[in-house]
Amino acid sequence: MARFIDELKRTHYCGDLRASNEGDEIVLFGWVANYRDHGGCVFVDLRDRDGITQIVFDPHQTGYGDAPRIAYDQAQALRSEWVIGVRGIVASRGANKNPKLATGEIEVRAIELTVFNKSDTPPFEIADSIDTGEEKRLQHRYLDLRRAPLQKSLRTRHRINQLTRRYFDESGFLELETPILVKYTPGGARNFLVPSRLHNGKFYALAESPQLFKQLFMVAGFDRYFQIVKCFRDEDLRVDRQPEFTQIDVEMSFINQDDIFRMVEGLIFKIWNDVLGIDLHKQYPSGRFPQMPFAESMALYGNDKPDLRFAMPHTDVTDLVIEHSGGGVPFFADIAEKFKSGRYRRDLPTEIVKALRVPAANAAKLSRAELDKLEEFAKGMGAKGLARAKIDAEGNWLQSPLAKLVSPELRSAINASVGAQDGDLIFFQFGKESVVQTVMANLRLHLAKKFGLIPESGHGGEFNFLWVVNPPLFEYDDERKSWAAAHHAFTRPHDECVDMLETDPGNVLCYRYDIVLNGFEIGGGSVRLHDPEVQARVFRALGISDADAQQKFGFLLDALKFGAPPHGGIAIGMDRVAMLLSGAESLRDVIPFPKTQKGTDLMTDAPSRVSPEQLLELRVKTIEPST
Ligand code: AMO
Repeated sequence: MARFIDELKRTHYCGDLRASNEGDEIVLFGWVANYRDHGGCVFVDLRDRDGITQIVFDPHQTGYGDAPRIAYDQAQALRSEWVIGVRGIVASRGANKNPKLATGEIEVRAIELTVFNKSDTPPFEIADSIDTGEEKRLQHRYLDLRRAPLQKSLRTRHRINQLTRRYFDESGFLELETPILVKYTPGGARNFLVPSRLHNGKFYALAESPQLFKQLFMVAGFDRYFQIVKCFRDEDLRVDRQPEFTQIDVEMSFINQDDIFRMVEGLIFKIWNDVLGIDLHKQYPSGRFPQMPFAESMALYGNDKPDLRFAMPHTDVTDLVIEHSGGGVPFFADIAEKFKSGRYRRDLPTEIVKALRVPAANAAKLSRAELDKLEEFAKGMGAKGLARAKIDAEGNWLQSPLAKLVSPELRSAINASVGAQDGDLIFFQFGKESVVQTVMANLRLHLAKKFGLIPESGHGGEFNFLWVVNPPLFEYDDERKSWAAAHHAFTRPHDECVDMLETDPGNVLCYRYDIVLNGFEIGGGSVRLHDPEVQARVFRALGISDADAQQKFGFLLDALKFGAPPHGGIAIGMDRVAMLLSGAESLRDVIPFPKTQKGTDLMTDAPSRVSPEQLLELRVKTIEPST
């Protein structure tokens, strides 16, 4: 029987011991974080998931016979990351306290040591802050995960999961599972496909979300469902996107949009309270998050996930430009002309003019060279340029090619609409709506970071929540020249818009919503369309024939015919919540085993080639990429 583990059980974790433990005999297990040999003693910092404790191996320690000397001799061989067990006595550190450590008042005077395992020299130091490249850290993720910041972040993740389960359980929700191997359905994110061995030539899709199944749970009468569930999407990756990620997925029957909001707000308040110790009631006394119509968000911020920790809104000046027949600026005149001839429709993708005012105090911080860099930044996003004007005390535009062209009337009208003051700077972007919106949305964020209004990454101690509501049901697909579902085809339109489905589809609003935190979409959902008659009209507006609809969504359409209750739901991006709450820079910091920006796993080397035999079994042929 081994002495340690079998006889000597662990009494504490390495973050537990305090002055009140002085004199106790304890047993610790952990990894050698640090060792020093001086003054005739060996000092070891012992690390486990809870912290660090200093162990002293002193050969002259009395009262335990030869044992301390034997332990000291063994300790001289210890190296970084060896796994050991120690029995010892807790003692005061006297004048040598370490205020940086939770256990800094004490040390453990070792009586007995065992080495469970040696370790190769790790490829990087297991310390809180290291500058090792991410690639190397991902290759040895298990070592990176030993570091305190990642230990902390995964603990936070655990906490969020536990709180979520308790919250929904207490609110009468059932945690039910849905399949991961599903039928491919078009629309939404691109799916990963899985070839079927038993049905050669056929494929499963990995579920991008449990959407259709959770609706079927409602049809089945489960009333309230939730799941903490892995979802898979073959998308281009970004800091806030991983190919496999986790949703807190929710669906409820006999509810309206507000009921769902309340349920989510309750969860978020709880998570912030229990994980961060922040009572969001101080910021949101009613317990509710503010709401903003989608159209307002697009007009003021250029996207549907505005970061409202700072202002700097956009001003859409297209109407002013039209009113002033372009005010002497050729591109503006072009828009005005299109409008007059009836070719300009705001409900279709179009051309717009937007302005962004930078108040004088911040404008003064931008040198000529920096302004040129901003123009390059805009061009990188597809803009043709970034027009700007400096405002003087009389409201003149300076340092601007527009200045020579623009009529005094249009200039004053724009000045008034953006609220321009002496010394301010106005940026302009005009052209294709989608480009203008993207460029201006990113410019606003870029400037806010430049001016220090928000930190480069992380929350900066501020959490700004927002519901973005009432978006249009359809969006115009400029390539196919037809309407497409903006989200999915089962979103319920506002009742007062149902009669516009055929006549004015672009202006049909729907019960879809996103929850936004500090400029990130942390969740989205909708009230579903449970009325087969309206459903058929939506399909018609989308140009989807009955046969098409049946082929694509047959099982859901069939199910909705059997007494589907009114229902709706939401999915929260659990990884994004964990990232934002902990101030992490990327999802990779809060997912135990993440993929790289290119979708690879550097540790296991996935994706990888498989043998010709495996491919043959699946009757799948690969085509070598052209070089
Ligand atoms: P949606 O597609 O908006 O809705 O997804 C919900 C939330 O999941 C998170 N998310 C992601 N997180 C990390 N990596 C990704 N690749 C990724 N994609 C999405 C986001 C997003 O807000 N079935 C619907 C929900 C519903 O209607 O009930 C859905 O999946 O935070």
